[in-house]
Amino acid sequence: MKVAIGCDHGGIDLKNIVVGVLTDLGHEIDDQGCNSVESFDYPEFAKSVSTLVKEGKCQCGILICGTGIGMSMAANRIPGIRAALCNEMFSAKMSREHNNANILCLGARVIGPGLATEIVRTWMGTDFAGGRHQRRIDMF
Ligand code: RB5
Repeated sequence: MKVAIGCDHGGIDLKNIVVGVLTDLGHEIDDQGCNSVESFDYPEFAKSVSTLVKEGKCQCGILICGTGIGMSMAANRIPGIRAALCNEMFSAKMSREHNNANILCLGARVIGPGLATEIVRTWMGTDFAGGRHQRRIDMF
């Protein structure tokens, strides 16, 4: 799968870890930055990653900021994007199974690298269940 990834300065260390996880899983990565620790505005990266997913250039995306909140708010403003902030495993699984989330948001100041790795593995490996869940998605 081709995965778009982006972060702000709060998420850069975790982004590098997530890139390693995705690479180990055999995915191709389109890294939209940031790539340094100076202060960046997270909506910029939310927009570039969301656009790649919306236009079908990447099959899904991962966005990381300090809490994951700003990234998820910004990404969900873009039509066609279903961004899910998941800082624990159950939400990661359900956001794919029930909500067909196409972007995973993580809070680098909320969770550690071990949990983030498991969340990414779970999210990437869980399929949408369809059926009644598709009907509900079609309502928004
Ligand atoms: C940056 O300091 C911080 O506000 C940002 O990473 C994020 O947590 C916003 O939601």
